Amino acid sequence: MFSRGKKYDPNHSSSRRGEKRLTIQRGILAAASWCDNSGVADSTTIQARSAVLRRSFRRDFPAAVRGEGVYLWDADGKKYLDLAGSAAVNFIGHGVAEISAAMAAQAAKLEFVHTSQFTTPVAEEYAEELLAFAGLNSSDHFRGGAVYFTCGGSESIETALKLARQYQVEIGQPARHQILSRQQSYHGSTLGALSVSGNRRRREIYVPMVREFAHVGMPYCYRCAFDCTDGCHNCGQQYAAELERAIEASNGEAAAFIFEPVSGATLGAVVPPPGYLQAVAEICRRHGVLLIADEVMTGMGRTGRNFAVEHYNVAPDILITAKGLSSGYAPLGAVIASKKVVDAIADGSGVFLHGFTYNAHPISLAAGRAVLRHLQTRKLVEAADSSRPNTSAAHFKQALESLRTEEVIGDVRGIGLLRAVEFVADKASKRPFPPDQNFAGSVAAAALKRGLLVYPLQGSVDGISGDHLLLAPPAIITNEQITWAAEQLRAAVHEAFVSL
Ligand SMILES: Cc1ncc(COP(=O)(O)O)c(C=O)c1O
Repeated sequence: MFSRGKKYDPNHSSSRRGEKRLTIQRGILAAASWCDNSGVADSTTIQARSAVLRRSFRRDFPAAVRGEGVYLWDADGKKYLDLAGSAAVNFIGHGVAEISAAMAAQAAKLEFVHTSQFTTPVAEEYAEELLAFAGLNSSDHFRGGAVYFTCGGSESIETALKLARQYQVEIGQPARHQILSRQQSYHGSTLGALSVSGNRRRREIYVPMVREFAHVGMPYCYRCAFDCTDGCHNCGQQYAAELERAIEASNGEAAAFIFEPVSGATLGAVVPPPGYLQAVAEICRRHGVLLIADEVMTGMGRTGRNFAVEHYNVAPDILITAKGLSSGYAPLGAVIASKKVVDAIADGSGVFLHGFTYNAHPISLAAGRAVLRHLQTRKLVEAADSSRPNTSAAHFKQALESLRTEEVIGDVRGIGLLRAVEFVADKASKRPFPPDQNFAGSVAAAALKRGLLVYPLQGSVDGISGDHLLLAPPAIITNEQITWAAEQLRAAVHEAFVSL
């Protein structure tokens, strides 16, 4: 374990002052509990300080030193099966030598130029390839569009929000500046991204700092708010109608609507009910509101399609991706804009008023391009398709479904290689565990001991209570590895339950 410096001394006066401040903030921070993706339950012991400002001061983190295939190793030689792809990041497996070789070759040739001065061959070629990849099912939806490269999901969201706003200004709709979004969503940790996120735990204490627009409800069929007897078709339409009312209430100020086609971290792999996304797309189009699909987590094959919107035949105006784009080999995100959006700027002011020093970084792009080639030649999108027989995704689905028999597993859901299990204290009433028990964190801790990495989250029920695990392994996972992982997960659930 890596730790450094003096031990925390509770009797020291500055420690006491800190303690007092902490007490004042405790209520709000308890609600925001940032241990939601910590991997283990927080302990109350304060560890010796690291020079790294880590996600938690209450636990120690193993130092990861190596990765290969679906496995990671820590500095003590312990091996972990990465059933969460870190946080739905890794799609192609760890330690793929051709990716690091592509990065090294790019670094040796040209490590960096600034986008205000140059473009690069890697950016131009890769952007073309991504437009084609994004347009695959819906023929060539993104033909004539363009790609803006960033360093990750949040930067991509910021870029998309500004792009949507500038589009509206360019087409003579300067009043349109509101970005509508959904209550149980997550779009990133920067302030703009938080303003359109609904994830209470991750945004609560920053709310006074962010500009807020309407957040509409979102379908969550396991806890459907409507009395659906038609497979949730009706509730899907009602949620879509709620969006239409919000657009109308904006008095012509709505610029865009942002959504995750399949819920990522916040609700845990919740798949939309039939007809919902199509209705949403139609409403946006009718009202001149741009449709922004946040596929940071679901893009690049994770759900068994190049992008999850393809499952629903929805063609967004702006498509955002990150995570699987580089599979974690380098910081990378992309905003894929349709021709309509790009034309508005190209034929209007001619300048996109936005930029980061490191956007379109050549080494990240080399990584992303190599990842795209790799997943295409290895047919990994197909491997992630759970509706195809004998794929890793089909086996994964089956293995997780077998966990439904567990007393505390209320729901097993998802699509492709993006899945979740939701825990309940009582199956019949779907009553969640008290949030301060952090049941998901306890399961994750028990899994970690067994060498299994999962992604624990809380808040699916009302933003605070509700425990689930997000599971998103690399697409190269084998049936044997899935079977082993499901056994360990079952044992981890038992252990967490008996230790309640
Ligand atoms: C759907 C979605 N959007 C945006 C983000 C933010 O991405 P990043 O953490 O790369 O900034 C995430 C991260 O989990 C996400 O799941």
